[in-house]
Amino acid sequence: MAAHKLVVASLLLCCLAEICYGKDLFSSLKRTIDVTASPKQGQVLLSGVDKISGTWALNKTFPAGTDSSYKTIKLKLCYAPISQKDRAWRKTEDELSRDKTCQHKMLAMPYNASNKTVQTFEWLIQRDVPQATYFVRAYAFDSNDKEVAYGQTTNAGKSTNLFEINAISGRHATLDICSVVFSAFSVVSLGVFFYIEKRKGKSPKQ
Ligand SMILES: *[C@@H]1O[C@H](CO)[C@@H](O)[C@H](O)[C@H]1NC(C)=O
Ligand SMILES: *[C@@H]1O[C@H](CO)[C@@H](O)[C@H](O)[C@H]1NC(C)=O
Ligand SMILES: *[C@@H]1O[C@H](CO)[C@@H](O)[C@H](O)[C@H]1NC(C)=O
Repeated sequence: MAAHKLVVASLLLCCLAEICYGKDLFSSLKRTIDVTASPKQGQVLLSGVDKISGTWALNKTFPAGTDSSYKTIKLKLCYAPISQKDRAWRKTEDELSRDKTCQHKMLAMPYNASNKTVQTFEWLIQRDVPQATYFVRAYAFDSNDKEVAYGQTTNAGKSTNLFEINAISGRHATLDICSVVFSAFSVVSLGVFFYIEKRKGKSPKQ
């Protein structure tokens, strides 16, 4: 009986723990990382062609030891509100595991709390990045690969310093389709040409 009660009690505790501590929220993260990125407000960049460079560093206004748990910095491309509108698959959720704002990983870099040098990065915009308006966000992860802090190139309202990425893959797809259609067309016309020639060659004998 006592054991039974213990099991029930621990199950209850587990459930409570899950509710209270299971969900990591973006709103609970401190903005301790200062991030800069090369694109200017309103600039249009081409995926597969243009690069995004920038810097990140710990904001010096935070007390020493703030970054003691930081192990990795991951830089991500995030959708601006204008590119999330009516698109549930890009929706911002406070619960980090469900948030779809920052779907495109740029780089992961080790964090060294003893190195106070401003860190630089450079990333070629990958071709699979869809055409949209973006900003850059950096997440600091701890040794359990859990988000513990962040920084971003835009303001809290995500309205400043936004840039656009144009996908050229769409044009490539059209070109690919065109070339397939043209080669199919030339094979068919070659066939027709030979057929006509053959018939012409035969007709005098008939
Ligand atoms: C550092 O953080 C403070 C307080 O949040 C902020 O006012 C300041 O703009 C930040 N510095 C930089 C360079 O972003
Ligand atoms: C500090 O970081 C910079 C930039 O990544 C790097 O070049 C430098 O070697 C690092 N310094 C030490 C002592 O690790
Ligand atoms: C971190 O930086 C410090 C000082 O800049 C350096 O002495 C140390 O070797 C670095 N550690 C790693 C793991 O790179």
